[in-house]
Amino acid sequence: MQSYQTLVEAAKIFAAEAADLVRSSRMQQLSISSKSSNTDMVTDVDKATENFLVDRIHGAFPEHSIIAEEGSDHKGNSEISWIIDPIDGTTNFIYGFPSYSVSIGVRAAETIVAGAVFNIPEDALYWSGKGMGAFKNSDRIHVRERVAVSKSLIGTGFGYSAIRRVAQAKFLASIIGEVRDIRRAGAASLDLCFLAEGRLDGYYEAGLWPWDYTAATLIVREAGGTILGPVDDEPSRELTIGASNLELADFLREKLHPYLPFEED
Ligand code: IPD
Ligand code: CA
Repeated sequence: MQSYQTLVEAAKIFAAEAADLVRSSRMQQLSISSKSSNTDMVTDVDKATENFLVDRIHGAFPEHSIIAEEGSDHKGNSEISWIIDPIDGTTNFIYGFPSYSVSIGVRAAETIVAGAVFNIPEDALYWSGKGMGAFKNSDRIHVRERVAVSKSLIGTGFGYSAIRRVAQAKFLASIIGEVRDIRRAGAASLDLCFLAEGRLDGYYEAGLWPWDYTAATLIVREAGGTILGPVDDEPSRELTIGASNLELADFLREKLHPYLPFEED
């Protein structure tokens, strides 16, 4: 089995190569189609980038499994799996709103061992390996110092189903008076990396998929932050919480509990 270091280096290289592909493809006419709803879009660039990553991972590590947002999964015969989002923040990518990424997480059985999130508009790579700390390019990053909940800047995101969004907005209304302010930038992996480097104090979202959060949750933890799920510290589609400190993470989870699970259409 490869060492974690090999996997970290490979994840960083693949993320940077895929980011180049996404960046150069923005110049061309995009072909856009809808997925689960009109608000859930996918482009030919998402698919081409996913194909590129699958080929690259499969070429280097043929025994590893791959779980990919646009569906090109591959079942290998090792405990290592790669969880990839070729473009996180597809709506931003289409509109040119500067928050979209390539996100690559690597698991060894249940443990996340490597994560690379390439912030394409900023041309910056967030990355981490288990036990190695968290980095932005070559600089170590850390979450912000703990502040009171009332002084916390919180990021979040919304799902693609109308019913779910309305419920999410109701929850948002219930906490907006208790925190410093709210941000919705549109790429969950980057929101979590922003938390890891101190641009946010906390983040929550209900309805993420593993490719949205796997890489970035390792980066947050290695930057000194807390990650929680709906019941323990395992993030899931039901709930993903990140915070610079446990008190804020607990506050968000306690507040959210009565609203969960958010329904789909
Ligand atoms: C979406 C983004 C968004 C979040 C959604 C995700 P996609 O990913 O991360 O910020 O709110 O829940 O689905 O569809 O752009 O890969
Ligand atoms: Ca995506």
